[in-house]
Amino acid sequence: MSFLEVLGIKTDLVRVGDDLVYALKKGMAKAGLALQEGDILVVSESTVATAEGRVVALDDVTPSDLALSLAARYCKDPREMELILRESDEIVGGIPGVVLTMKKGFLYPNAGIDNSNAPPGHVVLFPADAQKSASEIRRRLADGKKIGVIIGDSRTHPLRLGCVGVALACEGLEPVEDARGQKDLFGRELKITRKAVADNLVSAAQIIMGEGDEGIPAVIIRDAPVPIREVRGEIPTIAPQECMYIGALRPGPRSYTGGYDELIDLAKKALANAYAPYSGFKVGAALLAKSGKTYSASNMENASSGADICAERAVLAMALAEGEREFLAIAVLGDAPEPISPCGICRQSLIEFGGDIQVIMANLQGEATMAKLSDLLPRAFTGSFLEKPDAERYQS
Ligand code: THU
Repeated sequence: MSFLEVLGIKTDLVRVGDDLVYALKKGMAKAGLALQEGDILVVSESTVATAEGRVVALDDVTPSDLALSLAARYCKDPREMELILRESDEIVGGIPGVVLTMKKGFLYPNAGIDNSNAPPGHVVLFPADAQKSASEIRRRLADGKKIGVIIGDSRTHPLRLGCVGVALACEGLEPVEDARGQKDLFGRELKITRKAVADNLVSAAQIIMGEGDEGIPAVIIRDAPVPIREVRGEIPTIAPQECMYIGALRPGPRSYTGGYDELIDLAKKALANAYAPYSGFKVGAALLAKSGKTYSASNMENASSGADICAERAVLAMALAEGEREFLAIAVLGDAPEPISPCGICRQSLIEFGGDIQVIMANLQGEATMAKLSDLLPRAFTGSFLEKPDAERYQS
């Protein structure tokens, strides 16, 4: 039979400047617990951060203009928003009340800044260097024994309700076990399975630790089938494009899935008539108007290259001259190794008529990708910026 034990360590309330290791030792002694060879200690990040003095009084923070505007956008306390800006590498986005941030290649809500488990009017930041903290705690608690230490936090999973555990830092164990090459129940080789061992251990620890006033900032995990090694155990991350969630949800070109074959065909026919004696690069474009009518054109070049007109703008001018003002899709096709993509000027010309236009990008080899125009030209300059009453414009 396989089993593991999860033993909670109750401590006095850990305050700024307290010696956390001393508090843990005291808590263990009181409960008659002692660390054994092979044990893994999971400590909550907010307790580590509090002991290290990473507690900030919000009244001491002066928000910048940027913090004020982002706070209004995401319904945050401007002082907290200021700390989020200081603590993160990038603001990815947000919803009312929560800002999604990037820090050292990983996503955290609000840059890891915690309102809970902080005194009133205060917030707790992440430990300044969680890896260093894990190393220090391990060194001081090991007492000649092989142990592992994990600093744990909570995180949510996309579209799932509730928090699970996540390791911020660990030492003395491999945080991710590579199970590739092992066999499944039917003897097939596992291709992409990696076990997030450290995250799983934090989840197990959190069953005992809770998130509130339990006063259990750390647990000992005993008899886990996890080897203790002399490794730094830095938590690995993957690139955004390798991440299923980010890769799939990030706006941008995706594979063409059909529906515009006729438009692609029209663009191909137009390409044959391109006037491109200078670059030799022939392009065809076909535009589908909301009226249901289609238009097609090709690029036209000039000895004075500034007078060149791309196929997309040529076809747009044709359709406008026919009275069309609303468009559903444009196909653009070139003789290139990859599906070609409309140039910046053409994107700007097209966005005048709405960001929802589907752009189908293709080449002569039959490859195609598609994207919404607003994904190809995010945060575009449009007529909405010019919507100022005339009287106001002339005054300023
Ligand atoms: N061209 C287009 O017609 N559409 C594009 O999206 C990219 C570029 C033309 C302009 C010029 O005649 C030639 O390709 C080389 O730049």
